[in-house]
Amino acid sequence: MSSDSGISAKVLVTGGAGYIGSHTAQQLLDAGNEVLILDNLSNGDRAMAPGGARFIEGDLADRTLLAEILADGIDAVLHFAGSIVVPESVADPLAYYRNNTINTHGLLQACVENGVDRFIFSSTAAVYGDTTLVPVPENAPTLPISPYGSSKLMSEWMLRDTAAAHSLRYVALRYFNVAGADLQGRRGQASRNATHLIKLAVETLTGQRDRLAIFGGDYPTSDGTGVRDYIHVVDLANAHVRALDYLRGGGDSQVLNCGYGRGSSVKQVIGALERVSNRKIPIEMAPRRAGDVAELVAEASRIRGLLGWQPEHDDLELIVKTALDWERKRVGLG
Ligand code: UD1
Repeated sequence: MSSDSGISAKVLVTGGAGYIGSHTAQQLLDAGNEVLILDNLSNGDRAMAPGGARFIEGDLADRTLLAEILADGIDAVLHFAGSIVVPESVADPLAYYRNNTINTHGLLQACVENGVDRFIFSSTAAVYGDTTLVPVPENAPTLPISPYGSSKLMSEWMLRDTAAAHSLRYVALRYFNVAGADLQGRRGQASRNATHLIKLAVETLTGQRDRLAIFGGDYPTSDGTGVRDYIHVVDLANAHVRALDYLRGGGDSQVLNCGYGRGSSVKQVIGALERVSNRKIPIEMAPRRAGDVAELVAEASRIRGLLGWQPEHDDLELIVKTALDWERKRVGLG
């Protein structure tokens, strides 16, 4: 197995048929890695997994399968598989703890038992909860307000403690608001029942919804609507490739924010989409959504310094245009 930066080896990508996992699997292949995808297709789409990867349809809860996979010369694990819908996590918390926390436990245990000691984890800005820090740094208090955020934070703690006790080293990336799609139109956000702003907005523009609700116009922000740090999925995928290089180069375990460090409001997102589509989006003002903070923006300097990560698509219009192009293609309009 390789251990130096830039040398390829076999990597396991859980959730590699999902939105972020499939973009990352593509870039790992492009960088010369052998990629093994494990996905149960509960939310992913087999067609999104890149063709050059080996695909196993299977569940993380299947510990026999995990042991088989991890005994077979895996150099690193990139763990994307999980549930991500905040309101759903409030309605069914135990499902989130099972799918996010308990399955991560099983995967970590299999890593330790098989001597797999590089791990990259999909964490979330939801670990910061109802923060008022703008931008929010990695060392801010972690007080999640949803079972989704708690389930991910508990996984971060397991990683921290496992790394202290064993040879495993990890990078946990706390994603801010991920959006956009592959620039060549090969893949994008395909989740069923998505609740994300940009996904719902492009569904409205493609006639799948009558209108888009703006949840709250009375926040203490420049135009009264919620502000988020939207990051292009291709840049986020690249952060994982960099994190793998970093671990292969001997880097210590890290928890890193993954955003651009710049916020856009709901109205700015809608404005950008209207410009790129040259169409008006029917909107309605609605009350604030429970659990939403006014403004969530990453303090994003650590990841650049440590991983040498240089975003290339920090452009709201490009983000929404690639999301729209993908959605049009997905529903047969493109
Ligand atoms: C949340 C989580 C994030 C998680 C993501 C995945 C928090 C703090 N953040 O992001 O970690 O990865 O969900 O599910 O829990 N909006 C509308 N109308 C809509 C939809 C959204 O106005 O129809 C607004 C929201 O109020 C918010 C912004 O758009 O201000 C972004 O919302 P959304 O895309 O749902 O993501 P978050 O809730 O920020």
